[in-house]
Amino acid sequence: MEPVHAVVLAAGKGTRMRSDLPKVLHRVCGQPIVQYVLDALHHAGISAPILVIGHAADRARQVIGPQVRYAEQTEPLGTGHAVLQALPQVPDDGHPVVVVYGDTPFLRAETLQALIDLVDPTGYGRVIRDRDGRVQRIVEEKDGSPEERQVQEINAGTYVFDQRALRDGLRALSPDNAKGEYYLTDTIGWILSHGRTVSALAVAADEAMGINSRQDLAAAETVMRQRLLASLMDAGVTVMDPATTYVHAGVTVGPDTTLHPQSYLEGATIVGARCTVGPHAHLMDATLEDRVTVIESTVTQSSVGEGTRIGPYSNIRPGCRVGRDVEIGNFAELKNAAVGDGTKVHHMSYLGDVTVGARVNIGAGTVVCNFDGKRKHHTIIEDEAFIGSDTMLVAPLHIGRAAVTGAGSVVTKDVPAGGVAVGVPARVIRYVSADPQR
Ligand code: UD1
Ligand code: CA
Repeated sequence: MEPVHAVVLAAGKGTRMRSDLPKVLHRVCGQPIVQYVLDALHHAGISAPILVIGHAADRARQVIGPQVRYAEQTEPLGTGHAVLQALPQVPDDGHPVVVVYGDTPFLRAETLQALIDLVDPTGYGRVIRDRDGRVQRIVEEKDGSPEERQVQEINAGTYVFDQRALRDGLRALSPDNAKGEYYLTDTIGWILSHGRTVSALAVAADEAMGINSRQDLAAAETVMRQRLLASLMDAGVTVMDPATTYVHAGVTVGPDTTLHPQSYLEGATIVGARCTVGPHAHLMDATLEDRVTVIESTVTQSSVGEGTRIGPYSNIRPGCRVGRDVEIGNFAELKNAAVGDGTKVHHMSYLGDVTVGARVNIGAGTVVCNFDGKRKHHTIIEDEAFIGSDTMLVAPLHIGRAAVTGAGSVVTKDVPAGGVAVGVPARVIRYVSADPQR
């Protein structure tokens, strides 16, 4: 492929959004609008685009980062004027220049590719179509007549310019129009009137959709979501109800996983194969290995091991690493908790700032009292411990291997391995085995 340069326009204020945030930084399916355009360029093999920013430029630099080069347009004097601000950074090497508006997130890489392939029809015959779009005849370049047409097609706002034509066309712009702006679109007429060719690629209307208002933003959210869900379904995911399943751009889901209604998969969420998600699951930056079930529950910035079952009605807050074949049941809350394989946390319990071993049983109503009013403290519960119902574990604490706490006990001191501690405050009354380990 011939090298091409790319300019992305994102300097407009987005007046119709009525927002302090630059329009192209508003999010559709969790991702800034302009990022979709940058992704399309990237997938079309077009590197190092120049992003024209203006309104809240610092914010744009912050969000988009070093993936682009920046040009600044300090006053929004129109799309043509915006491209002019980028031109000094375009090497004057005659290679074509792709110009894209930052507010058209549905643009596909394949379309950019097709548009680039159209770029120079010089020397080729032209396909003439009739009113129904059927090919009528082929006219050789030398024989064709310039014929003005009444067209129904709208301008999608994505262009590949011959670099010379763009430079000359922009220089000739004047703001004598209703908005008093330098319209990029006026270069098309100029290029045509100076004896050059302009070819148009017809694409589906949905791909051309630009976002100007909050209503457009909501419509885009729906369309983009259906597109993301369609690609998940193509990859083997069952989506019970696409209308109520919300998936962010960049989320991955393994084959034979089922997404039930009213589920939200957000941020950098990764879901393995053969999982059951929902109904009413909310995953934010969550990593689920294979065969995990999350029903009516929330998992945030945490990882969950293979075969583990969460819910209904549990809240896995940031910083949790839940092992394999764990059961986390009704009304359990976990925060900054490492939970070993095969452990059970069934009913109405809170585990905060804990390291829990394997095959531990956390009884109903267990609470880790991790906060003393000033500081958070850590608790360790070793393998095979049995925490009785309604135990208060006053952190910091170390509950040894296979230790037992009695129902209703308030544990304020470490319990050695094998120790059975009961009461308020709890005291060790005997050992599970005759030979205590310490
Ligand atoms: C533009 C096109 C229109 C096309 C439509 C497709 C022009 C004059 N009109 O209209 O033919 O059908 O897009 O979506 O080009 N921008 C700047 N600096 C400016 C003005 C705009 O960087 O001074 C940027 C905006 O941030 C935006 C993009 O250019 O990302 C398009 O601007 P917008 O005002 O949305 O143009 P439309 O009225 O939608
Ligand atoms: Ca627009």
